[in-house]
Amino acid sequence: MKKIRHPEKIGQIVDSKEERVHHLEVDLDEDDGEYLSRCQVDTPPKIVDLTWRLVNDRRPDVDSVVDFGCGDARFASAGKWGSYVGYEIDPKRAPKSRLPCGASFQVADAFGVSSLAGCFSACVGNPPYVRHHDLGGAWLAKTESRLSQIDGYVSDGRSNAYVYFMWLALDCVAANGLVAMVVPYEWSSRPASAALRKFISDKRWGVDIYHLHEAGFERVLTTACIAIIDKASKTGRWKFHDVAPDLSTRPLRSVTRSSERRLDYEEAATGTRAHRGLSPGGQEAFVLTEEKRIHFRLERGRDVVPAVTSFRHLESKQATLSESLFRENYINAGKPCWLLNTAADPSAALGVYLATIGESIRANYTCSARREWWRFPMPRPPHILYASGFKSTVAPKMFRNDIGAIHVGGIHGIYCERAGMVKSVFDRLSEMDLSSRVVPLSNGFLKLEVHQMNSILNALVHELQGNSQ
Ligand SMILES: C[S@@+](CC[C@H](N)C(=O)[O-])C[C@H]1O[C@@H](n2cnc3c(N)ncnc32)[C@H](O)[C@@H]1O
Repeated sequence: MKKIRHPEKIGQIVDSKEERVHHLEVDLDEDDGEYLSRCQVDTPPKIVDLTWRLVNDRRPDVDSVVDFGCGDARFASAGKWGSYVGYEIDPKRAPKSRLPCGASFQVADAFGVSSLAGCFSACVGNPPYVRHHDLGGAWLAKTESRLSQIDGYVSDGRSNAYVYFMWLALDCVAANGLVAMVVPYEWSSRPASAALRKFISDKRWGVDIYHLHEAGFERVLTTACIAIIDKASKTGRWKFHDVAPDLSTRPLRSVTRSSERRLDYEEAATGTRAHRGLSPGGQEAFVLTEEKRIHFRLERGRDVVPAVTSFRHLESKQATLSESLFRENYINAGKPCWLLNTAADPSAALGVYLATIGESIRANYTCSARREWWRFPMPRPPHILYASGFKSTVAPKMFRNDIGAIHVGGIHGIYCERAGMVKSVFDRLSEMDLSSRVVPLSNGFLKLEVHQMNSILNALVHELQGNSQ
């Protein structure tokens, strides 16, 4: 793999006007271009100001400040601090204007700088957001090698890049230091950051999470928050706050933003369990419309099976996905609804269709990991289908699965231990208000995770067993 180096800049001061911009040695792979383009979303100035307000409320005279993944070092342009150093991996991001006195900008990989543990009074910033399957092996190896120096570090292969930066920040501030980072709100609830939250809780550090509805980022997929972790506070308390559009803050009762406790994440305790929607490796290629099915002469059952990828266009008062509803709302409506049947060897017709699928699908994350790029294990059709996401309703849309459709993508499935239980499980689920018990993602969009559905099902099965005794 070709390396891009900047030898003429290594270790030198590069801007005669700006004496505080330094370039250390950074190796950027060509592949890093994609990683960088994913994560270079700048923080709006009002959020930088708010972050500093929250820091200076707690530390009016904060001394040394570090910013990992500092971009153009915009966090140096606000707040009250003694000294500031920003580390940025991409030399092209260097600040365009002069830095304030006491601030410096270093081109360096945050995880490659040695001897920073416990060195700073505070760490501020907005670390990169890159999903775990977009993080390369080399990136992970280097990052893990740095973080494994932390006593108590627990690696979780499902983590987004920002989680690694939070570990680094906690390690680099002193024993009474403060971390203030703009990160996705989901860090406070998702399983992939559970080890980080446990580490913080075990230390009994005080945590304040400020939920931003309208942060004003140019392109973000999740709701953001400002997470403040105060190592000096030994209360062990996690407090949640709402940030209004005028940036005033008010306390919230819990992470779900309501007075109700968040639904727990549980493994299924019985054969009644939820199952994530299938990820076949590219819905466009693997789930076809009726028009495409006919074009390639693919037969229902032999080559394709019914499948649902969305309920958005269905009314929730319909309780059953029947043959007529499927025909009218999926087949005739031109929706993707035929999943390739890869259980047996492909028929001649299916073979012809597979040959039309291009390299970009064959080489994607899911397909390239398979022995035969197109073959996936076909799940059993679940008894109940539900949308994992919902908005403006009290619970996700849910249907009894009369046609044996396969659940794909954001549509998840529920298997009941016995067919005789399906009606009771469905009826009880349909009565529930779950909206106040899950964490909002963005714009009021709520997501019910598979393991949260399992915790509901575990309780439900217990209740149904009690009723039948
Ligand atoms: C979300 S942007 C935030 C930039 C800036 N802090 C702001 O708030 O506007 C994250 C930055 O981290 C940088 N970055 C990504 N990985 C890095 C690494 N390993 N070391 C240093 N910087 C990194 C990216 O180039 C990007 O500029």
